[in-house]
Amino acid sequence: MKSSNLEQYIRYIELDRDNVPSFSEYPFNLPAIRELRSLSFHPKVTFIIGENGSGKSTVLEAIAVAYGFNAEGGTKNFNFTSRATQTDLHNYLRVVKGTKMPRNGFFLRAESFYNFASNVDDLDREMPFGPPLIETYVGRSLHEQSHGESFFAVFLNKFSGSIRNFMDWNPWRRLKQIRFAFRQIYGHHPAGHGKSRTFGTGGY
Ligand SMILES: Nc1ncnc2c1ncn2[C@@H]1O[C@H](COP(=O)(O)OP(=O)(O)OP(=O)(O)O)[C@@H](O)[C@H]1O
Ligand SMILES: [Mg+2]
Repeated sequence: MKSSNLEQYIRYIELDRDNVPSFSEYPFNLPAIRELRSLSFHPKVTFIIGENGSGKSTVLEAIAVAYGFNAEGGTKNFNFTSRATQTDLHNYLRVVKGTKMPRNGFFLRAESFYNFASNVDDLDREMPFGPPLIETYVGRSLHEQSHGESFFAVFLNKFSGSIRNFMDWNPWRRLKQIRFAFRQIYGHHPAGHGKSRTFGTGGY
């Protein structure tokens, strides 16, 4: 069912099936995409859950790119590529937005988080003037923080306020961390407080 809540940043996405070149080629041959017509977003949080390899990341990455994010993650201002693995699925997705615009957003792509951290360091090295970018992530290089600390640095600094978040992060063994992070950001419930909207995937 398509969301009629006009206040959502993204109400739903549609696959332009008529123009898909072939449903027998990757990524359109993945069952999750072959059957896809439209996908509604929940007003608060939308989760995509499925088995490993079922196509969650492929779908989420295409939505994030269609929405204007860098395929390898970060805010909309990031534009780095370490390896061109993205599909052209985003060219066939229509993102139906609501009337409100988010102030900012973040695509947390766990798979390329290391490259994102390197890019923050590179940008600060290349642009020695003005406040360092890393100040907006707790002030210490994400590479000098533990895996968990660096994720929290992003959660706590980028996942609040009027923002649209995309999160591709398999919560396997990390449920405690996620619960903690959501409690920090939203209060007691992931869909609870504030205006931020999250769209995430999880494998098992
Ligand atoms: N370049 C490619 N060519 C063909 N198939 C690919 C390519 N890249 C990925 N795939 C396949 O696409 C499928 C979907 O991958 P995707 O990363 O979207 O899965 P996922 O649901 O996010 O899995 P996980 O839970 O492990 O993160 C997988 O079966 C994968 O092998
Ligand atoms: Mg995945």
